[in-house]
Amino acid sequence: MSMPISKKDLTSCLLCHNPMCTNGCSNGVDPGRIIRSLRFANYKGAIEHLTDACLNCDAECENFCVIPGEVKIKAILSKCYEEKEIHNPTFRRLSLKTSICGIPVENPFLLSSSVVASNYDMLKRAFLAGWAGASFKTISMFDMHEASPRYSAIKGLDGTIQSFKNIEQLSDHSVIDNIEMISKIKEEFPTKFLLISIMGRDEKEWKYLAMRVEKAGASAIELNFSCPNMTEDDTGSDVGQIPSLVEKYTKAVTSVVNIPVIAKLTPNVMSMSEAALAAKRGGAKGIAAINTIKSITEFSIIENIYNTGNNQIAVGGLSGPAVKPIALRFISELSQNEELADMHISGMGGIYTYEDAIMFLSLGAKSLQVTTAVMEYGYRIIEDLIDGLELFLGENNISINQLKGFNKNKVVDVKEMKRDIIIYPKINRSTCVSCGRCYISCSDGGHQAIEFINRKPNLNPKKCVGCHLCVIVCPTGSIQSSQIEVEKTK
Ligand SMILES: Cc1cc2nc3c(=O)[nH]c(=O)nc-3n(C[C@H](O)[C@H](O)[C@H](O)COP(=O)(O)O)c2cc1C
Repeated sequence: MSMPISKKDLTSCLLCHNPMCTNGCSNGVDPGRIIRSLRFANYKGAIEHLTDACLNCDAECENFCVIPGEVKIKAILSKCYEEKEIHNPTFRRLSLKTSICGIPVENPFLLSSSVVASNYDMLKRAFLAGWAGASFKTISMFDMHEASPRYSAIKGLDGTIQSFKNIEQLSDHSVIDNIEMISKIKEEFPTKFLLISIMGRDEKEWKYLAMRVEKAGASAIELNFSCPNMTEDDTGSDVGQIPSLVEKYTKAVTSVVNIPVIAKLTPNVMSMSEAALAAKRGGAKGIAAINTIKSITEFSIIENIYNTGNNQIAVGGLSGPAVKPIALRFISELSQNEELADMHISGMGGIYTYEDAIMFLSLGAKSLQVTTAVMEYGYRIIEDLIDGLELFLGENNISINQLKGFNKNKVVDVKEMKRDIIIYPKINRSTCVSCGRCYISCSDGGHQAIEFINRKPNLNPKKCVGCHLCVIVCPTGSIQSSQIEVEKTK
């Protein structure tokens, strides 16, 4: 289900903590929650939260907004009502219960190993919010000296993060403190999946850490072969690029513990299969991917030209929405490799919405992990991840286990792609606002197939190659794919 509400209207909402619009509503409606569901693509969930109280209300909530009048709440909720009337949706949900390496979990969503899963209090709040478990921030025996600032981002014009860069290393708590926190959280939340991430410098350290975390109550161990930011040589992604080291350290760990071991691999390679197979030979039961992708941190061009201020530029790790297609390519590679068929795949990289989750699951991931979206929006995103996925499964009558790998074989080699057909774009002239953006892009970046006459686009099928650039650039969604395959004329 989609929702005809403009992105601009939705992104005008700041997704406040403890939203003033909700606090100010005397009808007991929660507009803050409804708009959040819409922002996270959980349109059905948003509709379900509507109450008739809004129908004849004069929208006092809009004035309670932290920027009074900024968000057109009444208009947004009215559109939701209209959609409810038109589609009369059912709200059937299917369970998300599944398992990780044979261990039952309430849903497939875990926090990924990072700052979001660093201590007892954070995990407690995340678990109460609904996360099925967490991969604890990587524990090591090294001294951590972190840089400041350590994060930067490329943001869209609406202020949302498109890609996130960090130069953070591992947990800055001592092994003893971490072990204490793990034991405590295990005791309080015995059914949550506690994946404990570790990193050693040699076999002795890997073994020591693995035994300590198993004893503390870890459900499974994640081996960090993939941090790209390590100041210690021959650790992190340096190891993940060398299959023989992956095998050696995995074997060291599996030789001393009985719980499942998952190798977290680096995307800074051409292919992940070699390292994954090495982890399997070492006794790993699963692969987690992806860790962050090596990239240059953001820098100020002015400061660096005039050489003032703190202007060091470094290579850090990239995460967030921009890495999702890269993560999916690795998930697809792993899930299509028959030699890895019995391995659990825990997918991550840019998961924000339940739709992202479906992409990862349908390409072969069996559990999902999240960091950047939580850093941007908080643990509360789990509500729409769970709700959206449960409603999707219910609507399509497909179980979570059937969804896993559903699209796995649809990923074809480019050599096998259909090349004798064209799928033309379809222009909706009634919603077109005559901006001419499609004309500009097709003229300068396409095949000159769009004419712009009397401020309306006209498609010339003789010139159109069906590339869909116009569909992508149209700011109002007035150009869509026709979805009809037409045979190419010779
Ligand atoms: C600030 C930050 C710290 C991270 N720390 C770790 C870490 O200690 N261990 C680890 O295995 N991965 C670490 N990661 C990588 C994430 O767990 C995850 O693999 C990556 O960010 C991709 O997922 P995302 O796009 O949902 O963030 C870190 C990522 C970020 C952004």
